[in-house]
Amino acid sequence: MFIFCLVRCEKDPFVSPSNDGLDSPTPYYLKVPAGFPDYFLKQENALTVEGIKLGKKLFFDPILSKNRNVSCASCHLQSNSFSDPRVQSIGTNGTLTPFHSMPIFNMAWMNEFFWDGRAKSREDQALQPVNNPLEMDLGWVEAVKRLSDDEEYRSLFKAAFGTNVIDSNLAAQAMVQYEMTLVSANTKFDDWLRGEATFTPQEEMGRIIFNSERGDCFHCHGSILTTDNSFHNNGLDSDAALKPGLFSVTNDEADLGKFKTPTLRNLVFTAPYMHDGRFQTIEQVIDFYSDSVQNNRNVDVLMKKASSGGLGLNTSEKEALVAFILTMTDSSFIENQALVP
Ligand code: HEC
Ligand code: HEC
Repeated sequence: MFIFCLVRCEKDPFVSPSNDGLDSPTPYYLKVPAGFPDYFLKQENALTVEGIKLGKKLFFDPILSKNRNVSCASCHLQSNSFSDPRVQSIGTNGTLTPFHSMPIFNMAWMNEFFWDGRAKSREDQALQPVNNPLEMDLGWVEAVKRLSDDEEYRSLFKAAFGTNVIDSNLAAQAMVQYEMTLVSANTKFDDWLRGEATFTPQEEMGRIIFNSERGDCFHCHGSILTTDNSFHNNGLDSDAALKPGLFSVTNDEADLGKFKTPTLRNLVFTAPYMHDGRFQTIEQVIDFYSDSVQNNRNVDVLMKKASSGGLGLNTSEKEALVAFILTMTDSSFIENQALVP
């Protein structure tokens, strides 16, 4: 890349697009893993090798934060499946985010983003951290200025989008292109779905609890994606303690305490759990669904045992559920060097 940049920049970074072959970005075809549904992607942000490369650099570069100390990757660590092991993440000014960081993978199969769904597209999401005072707090005017002053970025934007004019939308599009490549589907669970692996008796017991009325998990965490991509109140809090959640977007009282259903893939890497990171272990989450569900006024009808405080699972049922969930672990994803610059 460095050599490429030198050549381009020496020539003249502001030449208009020519037919020298360097100006048309190379299409990148995202492979849909076996069994996954087709993904939704805006036509105007088609993936290209150059766009993904630029997006990857932006994602890992603290240049987008006010004090040049925090990048997207500071709160979305690959070792944690692009989530954060801290209960709350620390922004550029040393302040804490109100929620636990969400893992970033399989975004190609999502349409709404953040715990409360306040971003309605990937690009909308990618624009927000730079403006957020608790995250990067730079603002896009200053961010675009910094990027435009940087020779290497000028050349990367040119290669990705064929333009000499950097703007926030192109930066967001590039980051989204990179995020789209964060696909995780290399698990025992996927092998089993294809008939290429056998579950242990304990994993199989967990699978049956998960997918039957005994556990009821499948209603919200079903399908190969392990999320319905919707918003639910799963009974974490009492009426008095209900947090806004989806209500802060819709202003509808019935949405108080509703949060985005998270994926259950790669949970072993993404602790702590829930929007506020209140549970440190998967076992604590299962104990909650078994014994401490709060029958608040908005609790989802799919939480069928809420009125009796939960599922009332015995120890071997709880252990089986954990064993089944752990079959959804993709270690190759957190080790994949191609995903870091
Ligand atoms: C200071 C920490 C921090 C930084 C920096 C940060 N994020 Fe996040 N990110 C979070 C937290 C916390 C959430 C959940 C917040 C919420 O729902 O309000 C989140 C949520 C997300 C989500 C939503 C995932 C989903 O499933 O809905 C995406 C995507 C994301 N961030 C991408 C980015 C990108 C891209 C950047 C850089 C431009 C970035 N983040 C910078 C902490 C951070
Ligand atoms: C009514 C829908 C619904 C049902 C049924 C349900 N969940 Fe959830 N689950 C959610 C929602 C919504 C969240 C996020 C809640 C929050 O953070 O406020 C969640 C969070 C989780 C988390 C935390 C994941 C993370 O990344 O923080 C785990 C683990 C989990 N559920 C497992 C299960 C299991 C196991 C079952 C069955 C015993 C189950 N869920 C049943 C909707 C549901």
